[in-house]
Amino acid sequence: MTDPLRIGLAGLGTVGVGIVRIVQSHAELLAARAGRPVQITAVSARSKGKDRGVDLSAYAWEDDPVDLAGRDDVDVVIEVMGGHDGPAKDTTEAALAAGKDVVSANKALLAIHGQALAEAAEAAGRVIRFEAAVAGGIPVVKTLTEGLAANEITRIVGVMNGSCNYILTRMEDAGLTYQEVFDEANGLGYLEADPELDVGGIDAAHKLALLASIAFGTQVNFDGVALEGIGSVTIDDIRQAADMGYKIKLLGVAQMSGRGLEQRMQPCLVPDTSPLGQLAGGTNMVMLEGDAVGQIVMRGAGAGEGPTASAVMGDVMDLARGLRVSTFGQPASSLRKARPAQGAVPAPYYLRLKLLDKPGALAKVATILGDAGVSIDRMRQYDHADTAAPVLIVTHRTTRTALDEAVARFEGTGVVTAPPVAIRIEAV
Ligand code: NAP
Ligand code: HSE
Repeated sequence: MTDPLRIGLAGLGTVGVGIVRIVQSHAELLAARAGRPVQITAVSARSKGKDRGVDLSAYAWEDDPVDLAGRDDVDVVIEVMGGHDGPAKDTTEAALAAGKDVVSANKALLAIHGQALAEAAEAAGRVIRFEAAVAGGIPVVKTLTEGLAANEITRIVGVMNGSCNYILTRMEDAGLTYQEVFDEANGLGYLEADPELDVGGIDAAHKLALLASIAFGTQVNFDGVALEGIGSVTIDDIRQAADMGYKIKLLGVAQMSGRGLEQRMQPCLVPDTSPLGQLAGGTNMVMLEGDAVGQIVMRGAGAGEGPTASAVMGDVMDLARGLRVSTFGQPASSLRKARPAQGAVPAPYYLRLKLLDKPGALAKVATILGDAGVSIDRMRQYDHADTAAPVLIVTHRTTRTALDEAVARFEGTGVVTAPPVAIRIEAV
């Protein structure tokens, strides 16, 4: 057998411990598949004395992960500490400067500093691999970078934050409000330490920006993601969307057109019979569409010790086998700065209104929609005890601008009694 691949592991939390478990329990399997042993030589975390439920006695300890990155007995540095600056960034830069490849699960770091880090890797003749940063255990980065390398990617659509999907599913199943389920999930420790990363869509937008960079050969641009979290989704919308045959999902969509690069992370309606519509609980799903391959759907655990460590170790195994792909799938210097698209491609919309139940009220609304060029596909009015009727409209394909113009004029009709809710319906 040839020389072992020697790992320096920075971070011994949920993911780091999962990596230790795989390396220790699958030593033979890893060596057989890589053709060489895959070993951990040194580790780093904040508190040396903490019992982590795994035996670390065979590994050297470094208090400072930057020192770990510079060790002569480390070939690959795994960064699983988290945070988009500070130790994670310093350690990654130090590893590259010391001529080591980096494997990372850190979507925040790469979504914000990805281009600069990819350039630093290239200058050092190294790579950064980040399968675990997107959709946990689902090998979507590898699929996009390698399996679909010969395709022009036409669209990426996905549910990439398990916590949000859990909250939306639980609201529907238990008939609870957003706030009730949020409090419950937070109490159970299902949300990030800063829950806004999850429910504000930021974590999922980091992941989408990384996939978009690989798919479209563009510099990762997290700031270019049009971002809306799930905090405004109501149980009424979930119920009434279901009544019209839809589910509400926090959906990430990236596509390139003549109008530029569109990256959106927002609540959308999808048909309840579609694979995305049927995705329940904390699971992730990513759909990739390529001109030659058509559509691929991947589903699995987006987080957790085992799934995330599995993805990290998949990258490590590539490096152990000598498989080296540029950080974003092509040389960093060739990644273009994409022009962000102004507005999303047209789509049907779901519109929920409360209308005074009196003659001519619906006609006023329909006239405004018609004048704005928005055509009605389906409509439903629900029973009501008070003077205002809940009315649901599904439009034909329209632009968000046309819809917003119409909605802005509703107030002047005197018949719309509550702020209207408009949610995009994504074809999946
Ligand atoms: P975690 O449980 O909070 O663990 C973080 C680890 O980093 C801890 O061991 C901590 O040390 C160590 N650490 C923090 N600051 C440090 C410093 N300055 N020097 C040395 N060590 C330091 O985090 P995690 O859940 O494993 O996540 C790690 C990364 O994976 C993050 O980027 C996260 O976004 C990503 N990720 C996680 C999941 C998941 O399911 N957890 C899924 C996908 C991606 P102590 O233990 O001593 O405090
Ligand atoms: N908080 C994320 C989620 C997991 O709920 O999907 C880590 O990316």
